[in-house]
Amino acid sequence: MTNLDAYKKEVGVRAAGLVSSGMKLGLGTGSTAAHFVRALGERVKNEGLDIVGVPTSNATARLAADCGIRLTTLEKTPHLDLTIDGADEIDPELRLIKGGGGAHLREKIVACASKRMIVIADETKVVETLGGFPLPLEVLDFGLTATLHHVEEAARAHGCGGMIARRMTHNGDPVMTDEGNAVLDCHFRTIPDPQGLATAIKNIPGVIEHGLFIGIADGALIAGSNGIITMGDV
Ligand code: A5P
Repeated sequence: MTNLDAYKKEVGVRAAGLVSSGMKLGLGTGSTAAHFVRALGERVKNEGLDIVGVPTSNATARLAADCGIRLTTLEKTPHLDLTIDGADEIDPELRLIKGGGGAHLREKIVACASKRMIVIADETKVVETLGGFPLPLEVLDFGLTATLHHVEEAARAHGCGGMIARRMTHNGDPVMTDEGNAVLDCHFRTIPDPQGLATAIKNIPGVIEHGLFIGIADGALIAGSNGIITMGDV
């Protein structure tokens, strides 16, 4: 296990400790959230923890089921107590970039259905200014090039330049999300006005959801060489 993976496991286990019986949970996606799901599964098995979870991706649904976690949907359980999820970047105001795994649409819906969202990450995810990690957008395949041009214009108006490209697999096929949509990655390097950019991008018809999470996370657990530090309200 690399150092980074050890950090991810450490926060995953710590986050599983925040859960109590009776909770309705949002289960995040990605390698850090996977550690949380496994640790939660251990608590279900060993302590009989009685919880139910809404997965934020098909991959998390499979993992959670394998770990013995009871699953539900937002149709049956529209109000959740707590979502635990990873992030690609976290700034000092707890604004996030998510969607490195292409799951940010479902992740945002689930987080916004929760009373609280706690982010779990290793220390490399903490940044002063968002944008070093390419901002993912889930977009409709229909009109993709026209949508991309609108995104470029909106980005320029908010001080963001850089390449915007459709996400492809290693085999050269277009990446499709669990919802069957395309993903654009915006290599802005820096996002000087995340709120302005988020609003402008959200107004473009072909954009289904962007990976900026603003005012959604309540707190974060960050693992690094000095142990776990908290940001915000955990
Ligand atoms: C999934 O689409 C993402 O939002 C993940 O939560 C994010 O990419 C963090 O993933 P890792 O924990 O694997 O770094």
